[in-house]
Amino acid sequence: MAKNLENQIVWPRYVWLNGAIVEWGNAKVHVFVHGLHYGTGVFEGIRGYYDSGAIKIFRLEDHMKRLYRSAKMIYMEIPYTIEQLIEAVKELVQVNGFKSDIYIRPIAFRGLGSFGLRARNPVETAIIAIEFGKYLKPDGIRCMISSWRKPSGDSFPIEAKATANYLLYHLSSLEAANHGYDEAILLDAEGYVSEGSGENIFIVKNGVLITPPVYSSILEGITRDTVIRIAREMLGVEVFERRIRRAELYVADEIFLTGTAAEIAPVIEIDGRPIGSGKAGELTKKIQELYQQIVLGKIERYRKWVVEVSIP
Ligand SMILES: Cc1ncc(COP(=O)(O)O)c(C=O)c1O
Repeated sequence: MAKNLENQIVWPRYVWLNGAIVEWGNAKVHVFVHGLHYGTGVFEGIRGYYDSGAIKIFRLEDHMKRLYRSAKMIYMEIPYTIEQLIEAVKELVQVNGFKSDIYIRPIAFRGLGSFGLRARNPVETAIIAIEFGKYLKPDGIRCMISSWRKPSGDSFPIEAKATANYLLYHLSSLEAANHGYDEAILLDAEGYVSEGSGENIFIVKNGVLITPPVYSSILEGITRDTVIRIAREMLGVEVFERRIRRAELYVADEIFLTGTAAEIAPVIEIDGRPIGSGKAGELTKKIQELYQQIVLGKIERYRKWVVEVSIP
């Protein structure tokens, strides 16, 4: 039985660490690694779906490309090629023999050496894959606007999927949970809507989709891109990439969050105000349904996004 991240994780047998498959218990690094002290690391979150005797990994190459973009933003060189890491993911999935949905976490961080701030310590690279079920409730979540703000992009590269950046998302997610909400929505430094603690945001208004643009303050989400493609190419729905005001959220017809872990999560309430009918919206449900087919490689046009690893 796959578990949610917050629940007890069922540890897999093997982890890929610095070029080799090692047993879970041997996947260790030193307590003095630079990445632990200063957050000098980058990572990815990728989903694999178990279907018809195979794990189907969604947009693996796109996730790896983003990992390298994030690394470049923080002066880090990952000592493997994208192709090597893609092969490593496939091998790891195969040796673990997963027979349920999984979440794959590649991570690269500065290791042991100097503890100086300008240190360019050797980069350690690992890939962990765990059994993983639903992250947010697929029939509707309740959100709050976080009291923590997204810093401006000129403070540090907030667009990098860097470990240091996730203190903010940890705090906002925990704050939401402490207040009884399912998820937090963050505003940016100028007060515009940015994203969830681990998801991009879309609103539906008068039949069109609106979402904040990339390089405004958001992570360039791969699910976000998938949803834009579904809307434009399959549904003929217009998508506007523009900034959104907080008040606009409260009067949207529908809202949903998108993310690898969250998939398509309908937002049914924000700060105690029901969104639209107070239930998952029709367009949201349509996109959710198509997304589930696409990740399983069931729609020909997007089959190229799915890498299959057969599990004997
Ligand atoms: C802060 C943040 N925004 C957005 C996303 C969604 O990105 P993706 O759809 O690529 O998973 C994530 C998850 O990776 C995230 O952590």
